[in-house]
Amino acid sequence: MTTANSDRTPDISAAVGGQKNVEQLHKTSRDFRSDTFTMPTDAQLMAALTASRGDDVYHEDSDTAALEARIARMCGKEACLFGASGTMTNQLAIRTHMKQPPHSIITDHRAHVHMFEAGGIALFSQATTHGIVPENGIHLTAEDVRGALQLGNNIHIAPTKLVCLENTLSGIVFPQDEVERISDLARDHGIGMHLDGARLWNVAAKEVEARGLDASKEADVTTVLTHLLEPFDTASLCLSKGIGAPIGSAIVGPKEFIERARWFRKAFGGGWRQSGPLAAMADHALTHHFPRLAGTHALARRLANGLEAAGFEIAAPVDTNMVFFDATPLGLTTKQVVDALAAHPDPITISANRCVLHHQTSPQAVDDFIKVVTLLAEGVPVDKRSPREVGNIRKSIQVLTPPSDPVPEKPRKRVKLGY
Ligand SMILES: Cc1ncc(COP(=O)(O)O)c(C=O)c1O
Repeated sequence: MTTANSDRTPDISAAVGGQKNVEQLHKTSRDFRSDTFTMPTDAQLMAALTASRGDDVYHEDSDTAALEARIARMCGKEACLFGASGTMTNQLAIRTHMKQPPHSIITDHRAHVHMFEAGGIALFSQATTHGIVPENGIHLTAEDVRGALQLGNNIHIAPTKLVCLENTLSGIVFPQDEVERISDLARDHGIGMHLDGARLWNVAAKEVEARGLDASKEADVTTVLTHLLEPFDTASLCLSKGIGAPIGSAIVGPKEFIERARWFRKAFGGGWRQSGPLAAMADHALTHHFPRLAGTHALARRLANGLEAAGFEIAAPVDTNMVFFDATPLGLTTKQVVDALAAHPDPITISANRCVLHHQTSPQAVDDFIKVVTLLAEGVPVDKRSPREVGNIRKSIQVLTPPSDPVPEKPRKRVKLGY
């Protein structure tokens, strides 16, 4: 299992990728703004060089077709469509699900499809979106969804035609048994199920690890992805986030659905021509970067532990590659933290209290991050800290003595998370 990213061959060498890209990769390894800030590796670009160069609009590009077939197979779905971005594949999928207004969609109130896709649902699908606040503050439940269903012939309503979930949402894994309960409910009412699985690769990596499977064995990854996606009719999986393709996202679903989505993709202006090199880079990422994700998740936990030991509060469960911190118990603002990290001689970049790790995040960057925030916290006089924080520091010291009673699981807080 990959636990750190330092002892492997560099992703970019001066001889192949050029010195400016070696330097950019170093900055990337210290950039915690998003997992979209990865760089194509030399090996990825070499794969692009030898890719097929046919016209995909005419179904004549063999590497694009092979990538689509591979992802469909891995997800346990009939077919797949390779598209330009997560926004495009989500909106294409939603447009394909929705037939004729009046109609509506249920999402989490924080869902990317609802909040951060430029109003695409209203624009392309003419649908009303019901953004629901989960009762437990973390993820929707079947009860939340049941309470929001718009059913029947009352002419005042826009009937629910689709439930759209997101996994992970802010790095948090959606419990699969709850996904299944929601899916059973939707299916009972003939309502479609779509997943924004922009970061489903992270969920799959975590699950592969939890089951003791091998992330470099396609059969093992297929078993897990198929299980995760069984409750959904369709899903969109980003290739340019966790696994580090430069461009691309895939929709998976029934063959007829994907054919229809391909039609809409053309109407959206997203039919692409010589897409083989892009497909080859995504295919390379699936094979070579997916197995790195467990190491990325371990680094995220290391960062969270370091922040917590320094007195920061961790505002959301660190299930995968994101760490949300709260500096207020220390009497600090997020901006102070951003500035202190930027002032390091080898700067570290964050833009908010959301830290996102990726397959090129370096262990050194995490260690430096922890050192900077620890020094920053030590600079805050104890009487300026909240009583809760002083308690936290005592707790972090007492960790050395193993507690005799089982430690109760920390309650998952209501958290306002964002992008
Ligand atoms: C959960 C989620 N879904 C979809 C997207 C959209 O992806 P893209 O930026 O490729 O359009 C993002 C992007 O950050 C995302 O975080």
